[in-house]
Amino acid sequence: MENFSLVVGTDIDMNIFKYIKEKLHENEFENNIPLKRERFLICCDSVSAITNLKFDLIVSNPPYLPDDKDIKDATIYGGRKGLETPLKFINESMRLINTHGKILVIISSLVSIDDFESQLLKYGIKFKIAKIKNLFFEKLFLYEIEK
Ligand SMILES: C[S@@+](CC[C@H](N)C(=O)[O-])C[C@H]1O[C@@H](n2cnc3c(N)ncnc32)[C@H](O)[C@@H]1O
Repeated sequence: MENFSLVVGTDIDMNIFKYIKEKLHENEFENNIPLKRERFLICCDSVSAITNLKFDLIVSNPPYLPDDKDIKDATIYGGRKGLETPLKFINESMRLINTHGKILVIISSLVSIDDFESQLLKYGIKFKIAKIKNLFFEKLFLYEIEK
């Protein structure tokens, strides 16, 4: 993150920002990162508040579990199939990437990877899997998406 002159983070949950601010501060202090770049944290749905900026890199760790019928938690549940929120983030972020920019997004094997990829293909979105991490209860796929 220290290589970028402008860093913008969004989240729909206002309570998250206090935690993020503390973490950023600790990280910069521990790693002796100079505070020279501009940073903004915006509380909004997806990227709805960003209208006139373009980015080289957009990174997202969206909530990706299929909804639970009893528990509502936007931190982890990403819609009926678990794909609705990740796909919304991707679709809405496409307009914000530079010509050679990329979106990196984490998707879990706990959702249908076939479904996810066919939705991307349906929208004409180019993608590849950049990395796979095996955890004991799931696999995490890091998707790299281009314009
Ligand atoms: C899996 S957590 C990731 C948290 C953090 N970004 C990270 O990587 O550790 C998913 C985050 O997405 C946020 N979120 C859920 N729905 C959202 C939406 N429609 N717009 C923006 N943020 C949303 C949740 O509040 C939660 O903080």
